[in-house]
Amino acid sequence: MIIRFTLNNEEKTVDVPATKRVIDLLREDFDLLRNKVSCYQGACGSCSILLDNCIVSSCSILAFELKGRTVVTAEGFMKTEEYQRINHIFQKNQYDPCDFCRWGKIFAIHEFIHSEEHIDSDSLTRALKGNQCNCSSPTLLLSVAEQIVKAEKKINTGRKHERTARK
Ligand code: FES
Ligand code: FES
Repeated sequence: MIIRFTLNNEEKTVDVPATKRVIDLLREDFDLLRNKVSCYQGACGSCSILLDNCIVSSCSILAFELKGRTVVTAEGFMKTEEYQRINHIFQKNQYDPCDFCRWGKIFAIHEFIHSEEHIDSDSLTRALKGNQCNCSSPTLLLSVAEQIVKAEKKINTGRKHERTARK
């Protein structure tokens, strides 16, 4: 089946077999290797991408379902200013998760930033819970995520006020 979709800001056309999964399409056909495969069952978060700006497990979606939609992978998100700010706060806190859990955490934080969720440790814990990680501190993750969400929401509120003032 031939599908067209947007991948990291570029229009793509690709012929996909009916049973091919998105993670395999990204890794095999587009050489986008930063998003990893671990459980292959939608349970660990390693293969997380943004689909129409929502976090999804790309091992749980068939490639043909991308038709007409917008995908951002780790490689695409790394080019954004938001990523630079997130990474800065990671580094400031000496928090450096590996690629097996990094992108699930970053995309979960990204989704939280753009949601109406109240910022507290319960809601942040819920947002981050789909990411399995045995080798970094969950307490540090919560602290880092809270710092990022607060900083980003402040920036977004400032932008909204600027836009309102210009009208
Ligand atoms: S590999 Fe997709 S959720 Fe684990
Ligand atoms: S799985 Fe490697 S740091 Fe989380």
